[in-house]
Amino acid sequence: MKRVAILISGGGSNMVALANSMIGDHPARPVVVISNDPKAGGLAKARNLGIATAIVDHREYPNDRNAFEGVLHATLEGYKPDIVCLAGFMRILTEGFTARYEGRMLNIHPSLLPKYKGLHTHARALEAGDAEHGCSVHEVTAALDDGPVLGQARIAIEDGDTPDTLASRLLSLEHQLYPAVLRRFAIGDRAPVYLPISEPIP
Ligand code: GAR
Repeated sequence: MKRVAILISGGGSNMVALANSMIGDHPARPVVVISNDPKAGGLAKARNLGIATAIVDHREYPNDRNAFEGVLHATLEGYKPDIVCLAGFMRILTEGFTARYEGRMLNIHPSLLPKYKGLHTHARALEAGDAEHGCSVHEVTAALDDGPVLGQARIAIEDGDTPDTLASRLLSLEHQLYPAVLRRFAIGDRAPVYLPISEPIP
């Protein structure tokens, strides 16, 4: 059974989707949820699911990313994770940290990578006049929102969409995509997952 640590910064809805998927014959189980923000709403959700939680508050290490990452690493290692899932974790990680988890750290990003790395992805897709938008799960490498894409889900952009309507429509697809990728990844299958699965043409 693979041990999965989940890193969050906010509401943790992707964390809940991942945790709820790891039941029955699933090859992995959640062992800890760690937040860099003590106020993250996802912490209470994790506790309610019976998952251990920890807080590593980046504000306790002002201007010292290495110190923050050192404590984050030590905290993670206390739970001996095989896989680390970033799920709305909003801190940039250095190369030194990502190298320690190379090949076993995943992230979900709300854009069709390689488009729109970084922040404000929904607004940027709208501003660009894109016809579609989406989210990607990828392996984490040293470069921000880079690394091999392991799955994507796409939605059409409709007239009248705002960053908020796009974000909420996309979030429900994120909740399908991330568990689907993790389930495969946990058995070493890196073949990309694409959602929604297109209907066969009759
Ligand atoms: C999700 O939309 C996720 O894709 C995004 O933050 C949200 C977290 O929601 N992640 C990033 O922007 C990472 N750069 P959640 O806390 O409800 O899962």
